[in-house]
Amino acid sequence: EDKSTVSITVVGASGDLAKKKIFPALFALYYEDCLPEHFTIFGYARSKMTDAELRNMVSKTLTCRIDKRENCGEKMEQFLGRCFYHSGQYDSEENFKELDKKLKDHEAGRISNRLFYLSIPPNIFVNAVKCASLSASSANGWTRVIVEKPFGRDSESSAALTNALKQYLDEDQIFRIDHYLGKELVENLSVLRFSNLIFEPVWSRQYIRNVQFIFSEDFGTEGRGGYFDHYGIIRDIMQNHLLQILALFAMETPVSLDAEDIRNEKVKVLRSMRTLNIDDVVIGQYKSQTIGGVSYQGYTDDKTVPKDSLTPTFAAAALFIDNARWDGVPFLMKAGKALHNRRAEIRVQFRRVPGNLYNRNFGTALDRATNELVIRVQPDEAIYLKINNKVPGLGMRLDRSNLNLLYKARYEKEIPDAYERLLLDAVEGERRLFIRSDELDAAWSLFTPVLKELEAKKIIPEYYPYGSRGPVGAHYLAARYNVKWGDLGVDE
Ligand code: BG6
Repeated sequence: EDKSTVSITVVGASGDLAKKKIFPALFALYYEDCLPEHFTIFGYARSKMTDAELRNMVSKTLTCRIDKRENCGEKMEQFLGRCFYHSGQYDSEENFKELDKKLKDHEAGRISNRLFYLSIPPNIFVNAVKCASLSASSANGWTRVIVEKPFGRDSESSAALTNALKQYLDEDQIFRIDHYLGKELVENLSVLRFSNLIFEPVWSRQYIRNVQFIFSEDFGTEGRGGYFDHYGIIRDIMQNHLLQILALFAMETPVSLDAEDIRNEKVKVLRSMRTLNIDDVVIGQYKSQTIGGVSYQGYTDDKTVPKDSLTPTFAAAALFIDNARWDGVPFLMKAGKALHNRRAEIRVQFRRVPGNLYNRNFGTALDRATNELVIRVQPDEAIYLKINNKVPGLGMRLDRSNLNLLYKARYEKEIPDAYERLLLDAVEGERRLFIRSDELDAAWSLFTPVLKELEAKKIIPEYYPYGSRGPVGAHYLAARYNVKWGDLGVDE
């Protein structure tokens, strides 16, 4: 029999993230038999609620995998039976003490391991950590805390937050989530590079012309304007999600798959990067637009956003890694809300074929049709390589084709949500996919000066209509480095 137990407390249990992601992910883990034999889940929040009310709230958020519908209802009931609620203030040691008592009852004398998921606004992070650690830490097992961004707004505030957290927690108790690291195709990036012969040798300035990290959403900041306006798209997406993918993409081969080895390599990439220059950034903000009779609100039409807000909802940036492998290769990023589609992908554009034989027949058109490797993180997860190919027939005509690994055609299994992987790793103490504090510092160093300059100079964003492809400025920026965004083709 297992002598230990894990208690997972979702602090901020009635919030959006808890409902949309955390509880469903916990249930999915339970369904897959990934949670330990003895576990208890507590919701913690200010509002008064009974266990039954929490269960009712949680039950509405749970779904079953399409491929496993059978005993789903039964599993849900069992899962809900392990969920409890405690109402308390986020800054009350007393209330956390009460929680501690309840946790102890459930632990029933077993070794107690405790995971706190802070799904609360950043201004109350530190107080909650303080109370949880002083009043509700495990006495004989581990205590871990998952925190979500925003980790500050710039280098200084991030460092202050880290220092404040470290008053109550050791670095190895802090699990900083960047949920993009839990996405299947992001995790696969290292497999692709390091377990295939054919990619690693071309993974450098010698063969790669540029790399693009593209994030777009086809909806605005509806309902989150208040949070968003304080941060903007660079802090919301680029400084974390896209930069983390970039680091994994560009790092050297780690010594092993251990968390510290991987994070050491990522931090080296980040520290080799050139601080972003304001001339290498384009910002945009969406404005209202009517599409097919339906009108969509502009960013500043949101009641929670100041009318004169200059906060970017779109940004494009050109970044450089000044090391031997990547010297001179533009790493372009583009992130935006309220664009024409929802997509996250990595595009690797390769150099042209030197002395291409076929140029004689086809002119320089082929020069432009270089190989491109696309890793589509979402939706419709896929990895495909664009190649030039002869059109079958007696003549000699070339066209562009894809060698295509489309996940849903290749794998039957549904892809788990990022939060499932990350929660499981936190329970198991696997830190590979969490952000270490030196990584966080390096990430902020890159973006802090430009963020400050944009704000100090009150740079006006380029306005783009809701549902469009975003500001044209992004094209000029790319063109300056001889790059064309890869996501504009009709064959996509
Ligand atoms: C979050 C951002 O980190 O990621 C949101 O704060 C964004 O603004 C979200 O919508 C996107 O995540 P996903 O997994 O839906 O692509």
